[in-house]
Amino acid sequence: MTATANIVVVGAGLMGTGIAHAFLTAGCAVDLVDPSESARTKAARTIDRLFDEGVQRGKLTAEAATGARTRLRPVAAVEEAASDACFVVETAVEDLVVKQTIVRALEARVGDDVVIATNTSALSITEIASAARRPQRVIGMHFFNPVPKMKLVEIVRGLETDEPTLRAVQDWVGRIGKSSILVNEAPGFTTSRISALLGNEAMTMLHEGVASAEDIDTSLRLAFNHPMGPLELGDLTGWDTRLKVLQYLHTTLGEKFRPCPLIIKMVKAGRTGRKAGKGVYEYDAEGNRIPGSGLRTR
Ligand SMILES: NC(=O)c1ccc[n+]([C@@H]2O[C@H](COP(=O)([O-])OP(=O)(O)OC[C@H]3O[C@@H](n4cnc5c(N)ncnc54)[C@H](O)[C@@H]3O)[C@@H](O)[C@H]2O)c1
Repeated sequence: MTATANIVVVGAGLMGTGIAHAFLTAGCAVDLVDPSESARTKAARTIDRLFDEGVQRGKLTAEAATGARTRLRPVAAVEEAASDACFVVETAVEDLVVKQTIVRALEARVGDDVVIATNTSALSITEIASAARRPQRVIGMHFFNPVPKMKLVEIVRGLETDEPTLRAVQDWVGRIGKSSILVNEAPGFTTSRISALLGNEAMTMLHEGVASAEDIDTSLRLAFNHPMGPLELGDLTGWDTRLKVLQYLHTTLGEKFRPCPLIIKMVKAGRTGRKAGKGVYEYDAEGNRIPGSGLRTR
């Protein structure tokens, strides 16, 4: 890999920020595309902070961090991204039509041989790819939040995904220092399918007043050694994203994935999680959880 491999990351939210940071850390130049100016600004600020922390922890030198920062270029539209990109990751909102529109725009912008990887949490890769002129180069590349800490990338093969596309993604996963598993397309793959069910059940217990949010989370941490409870994890993931995943899994896999009404209410109230400063828990301006802030439903 040369230091100037150009990567396009579409979507500068929670995940796009972490994914851009991963490719910058691996020596790539990243064009980070998002129509929202506030998302672009926040992403650049977060990436700066991640590099500062990396220097403080001795993971990279101050010079390397400065170099990496200069290789980030936030832009507003796919049409402004590098046309000589060698790899693309789509990570905009979890919406089939939005993702299909982005894939079409990307195909018009980058070369025919460039792989378009989508970070969808649950949607059908085959269906996203059906909008493409060359569906064989579309593949799922499912990262986990927070990207700098989480080692796994779930690679998801759509019906038309070809072998060179699969190998290219496996290669990139290695270059950014992560490990992969391979999944044949199925709604929610392996991870989102399990995690959506767990989070939905935890939320249903909160809704029914079975226990407090804090105690539900503590039960999973201390009884089963989960590093984080399912409600804390939902706050980190974002309940808006969680809801979209559950709605899709409900449609495709059936009744057991029907979203808990409390999740729907929380999203309507803007309690989408850490990114909004409040979800099941509330957070201060520094992002620290406010003790005793767990949502009360009884
Ligand atoms: N949050 C998680 O834990 C997680 C984990 C794995 C995968 N994902 C998936 O990653 C994707 C992004 O999730 P997120 O949590 O970063 O969401 P987010 O809400 O933090 O960010 C989404 C971003 O997409 C942008 N966007 C909307 N339309 C766009 C367009 N046409 N072009 C470019 N950008 C556009 C929005 O402005 C926003 O900044 C979703 O598909 C989600 O399912 C999320």
